[in-house]
Amino acid sequence: MRLILLGPPGAGKGTQAKMLKEKFGIPQISTGDILRKAVSNDTELGKQAKAYMGDGQLVPDEIVIELIKEKIKEDDCAGGFILDGFPRTIVQAEKLSETLEEMRLDIDAVIDFEVDPQELIVRLTGRRSCSNCGAMFHDETRPPAKTGVCDHCGSKLYQRPDDNEETILKRLEVYENETAPLKEFYSKQGNLKTLEGRGSAEEIFSQVCDLIS
Ligand code: AP5
Repeated sequence: MRLILLGPPGAGKGTQAKMLKEKFGIPQISTGDILRKAVSNDTELGKQAKAYMGDGQLVPDEIVIELIKEKIKEDDCAGGFILDGFPRTIVQAEKLSETLEEMRLDIDAVIDFEVDPQELIVRLTGRRSCSNCGAMFHDETRPPAKTGVCDHCGSKLYQRPDDNEETILKRLEVYENETAPLKEFYSKQGNLKTLEGRGSAEEIFSQVCDLIS
């Protein structure tokens, strides 16, 4: 199964991708996670991406396209994958289609999560992520048992530097300008499925499973 998860920052793409990965045993490919790891390891890729990410802008297409092309050809993607945060521009979507065509593969579904912007701001400003296993929490709606500590692995929780209100507003604007047009792109291809992203993560996951079954 090959899925694309679409939606604005905070729509729940990462949360749903992790649940899908667990249930179906296929890898989650998150360009955001790959880039954040590169920044934290201060690699060449990280050096190139850091300023764009900190400013709420997209990293240039050619950088992320190359990343994804390599990633989806790896052995662990042979049985399928979940793209979380890619594609994000029409150019990225076109290049992905070309690559998949060369590999004689198709996308099974593009799931778009629609969430009210005010709710997105609340979700993102309260988000806390585990520095080790990537588990996600929220100060109010999904707090860890012990403040600042991951329930799953005991590591320290951190707040993403782009999860402040000013940068979130920029990310939402970039989403509207650059990424929202992908809904029409995939709708024309006939594989767009839209879900109202309201309700608990578990409720939404059950709708996702119904959609792809
Ligand atoms: P990326 O890491 O992809 O961030 P994003 O798209 O802004 O998405 P988020 O991770 O913030 O949100 P999400 O939808 O995954 O929501 P989540 O499940 O975490 O990208 C970061 C940056 O990297 C970009 O700005 C760009 O610079 C660069 N980048 C990445 N990909 C790129 C690309 N392809 N091209 C160019 N640049 C790229 O949930 C959020 C919070 O809400 C959590 O606290 C969670 O617990 C909570 N939550 C989840 N579901 C629910 C629910 N149903 N109800 C209540 N709370 C919920």
